[in-house]
Amino acid sequence: MEIYRSIDEMKKRSNELRAEAKSIGLVPTMGFFHDGHLKLMKEAMDKDNFVVVSIFVNPLQFGPNEDFDEYPRNEERDLKLAEKMGVHAVFIPTTQEMYPVEPSIAMKVTKRTNVLCGSKRPGHFDGVVTVLTKLFNIIQPTRAYFGEKDAQQLAVVDSLVNDFNFPLQLIGVPTAREHNGLAKSSRNVFLSDTEKKEAVWIFKALHAGKQLALGGENNTDTIIDEVTKMVVTHTSGVVEYVELLSYPELQKIRWMDETVILAMAVQFKRARLIDNLIFNLDEYNHT
Ligand code: PAJ
Repeated sequence: MEIYRSIDEMKKRSNELRAEAKSIGLVPTMGFFHDGHLKLMKEAMDKDNFVVVSIFVNPLQFGPNEDFDEYPRNEERDLKLAEKMGVHAVFIPTTQEMYPVEPSIAMKVTKRTNVLCGSKRPGHFDGVVTVLTKLFNIIQPTRAYFGEKDAQQLAVVDSLVNDFNFPLQLIGVPTAREHNGLAKSSRNVFLSDTEKKEAVWIFKALHAGKQLALGGENNTDTIIDEVTKMVVTHTSGVVEYVELLSYPELQKIRWMDETVILAMAVQFKRARLIDNLIFNLDEYNHT
């Protein structure tokens, strides 16, 4: 497996690959791999000739009171896992390499950020699109792979690609979960044993909310209240938001045949967890 720490070397390699007409799959990550990341890599390995995984904990997307310093990191383990997956190259720049000077241009996401994590983490998606613009330009992938676990991120990146005409195809990959439904996350290591058991209720509550919607409940507030109540009753976490919106527009739903997202964020002692279910109201079960 090739390892690149310099932007110039990475660029040189991707230029060579394109000259050889190889398709390049990019999986952008912040490392500390779990099955979710591996699922994206597998998808990329299936579709592209050459797969690059980037590992970079991007300071720009963390707020001043967030967990940038304590975000889990384990380069040695990540490299072993990527190698085991058959990934061709890992791009693992330092902060100095990515941001040698304060950027002179700031990117600002103007749509879809007044809801869900966007409203709770001001500037977060500005940081995400900034780093992705750099990664897309450095690696110039044919396809880029993102998880539905971060559904708002996927929707925002879709706008980034469309608004700025990045010549790449975006691939969304379904959420990898534990057997009990808990969504895999690098931040799960910060859960105590008790919290880990409680956190399963995030999935259970989302699932119950989905069933309510598909069963014909068309009052958004009723569904949100039920979902919130389940998590409040069964966990020690603080519910930051529960929202039911159209997807990928992230607007108020109109209860017509449309794809919707039921999403929530829960703050546990040392970990803020997010999860969502995306489904179509077409699945409405009249029986
Ligand atoms: P990170 O949290 O490391 O996630 C990297 C990719 O893995 C994202 O596309 C995310 O949606 C996906 N992912 C995380 N958990 C998943 C799960 N349980 N199932 C499926 N996919 C999952 O997201 C980021 O990093 C950063 O914001 C990044 C895009 C790299 C920009 O810095």
